[in-house]
Amino acid sequence: MIDDPVLVNDWHPLASVKMLEQKPVFGSRLLGEDIVIWKDQGHYYAWQDLCIHRGAKLSLGKIKDNCLMCPYHGWYYDKDGKCIFIPTHPEQTPPAKALVKTYLVTEAYGLLWVCLGQPEKEVPPFPEWPNSQMAKAVCGPYEHLKAHGPRLIENYLDAAHFPFVHENVLGDPDKPMLGEFEVRQTSEGIASDPIRVYQPNPYGDSAGEVTYTYHAFRPLTAHFTKHMKGATNGMMLTVTPHDELDSTAWFVVATTAMKDTEALAADYEPRIRAIFEEDRAIVESQRPELLPLDLQAELHLRSDRVAIAYRKWLRELGLKFGTA
Ligand code: FES
Ligand SMILES: [Fe+2]
Repeated sequence: MIDDPVLVNDWHPLASVKMLEQKPVFGSRLLGEDIVIWKDQGHYYAWQDLCIHRGAKLSLGKIKDNCLMCPYHGWYYDKDGKCIFIPTHPEQTPPAKALVKTYLVTEAYGLLWVCLGQPEKEVPPFPEWPNSQMAKAVCGPYEHLKAHGPRLIENYLDAAHFPFVHENVLGDPDKPMLGEFEVRQTSEGIASDPIRVYQPNPYGDSAGEVTYTYHAFRPLTAHFTKHMKGATNGMMLTVTPHDELDSTAWFVVATTAMKDTEALAADYEPRIRAIFEEDRAIVESQRPELLPLDLQAELHLRSDRVAIAYRKWLRELGLKFGTA
């Protein structure tokens, strides 16, 4: 396991609720650890993806009699991770040591979040989630990102790149100014607003200024609320750290402009994918790959104040992963 207590004791999304509906046993990786997530009778389980007998991956197994059955010799593990039946020796009580390491898993915002250690907080907040007037959907996963989470999150918090990386979609290179905004540290991380951006066509009819409030709620989870004429959007980016240089991005979106989850996902998924591919090209190109927390490294301008606050906060938290 990657030794970073800040991330080991935090929640990370490993799958969506939808993915488990389609396939109830699912293998992934978190902080260098193989994890199996499975669902039975409405409950979710997250375990080390390793059978204690001969080390086969349990994620290749299947659910039988409310147990997860190993694909190799068919050992049955109950919901507590205890082997309760060995088909080759049906008369024998399985050894007490035949246990799988279990982890905490919880569902929030259509995602399944896993904690490998002792969580110090709940999953990160999503301010728009309780708003019944907004449609919400998960977009992603966007996988195999060859970038560290902190670089990806800092990119998300950086509105100054819109006119150049997302030209004519999220910004106009002839109008790249952000105006004055405030940055503050809160009990839930970093907050910043009002970040005013001129966008060429944010409402689908005419160009105009939109206003963002940004949050970094956790080292690898950021969020914005975007205020437009006649509509408000909320969007969370959360990055799963599989390994040092293998990340997955998930977006959770909420909008007042739609009522239906399926329609929202169908509308937003391709748009987010296209925009995120533009970000991916930039972030994967950044060197050093580790986000420098020493503010003497790289150059910082007034428009970089959210990023400066994010780096200072990561330093205070003692985050080691993905930083230098
Ligand atoms: S390796 Fe799992 S039952 Fe043998
Ligand atoms: Fe971007």
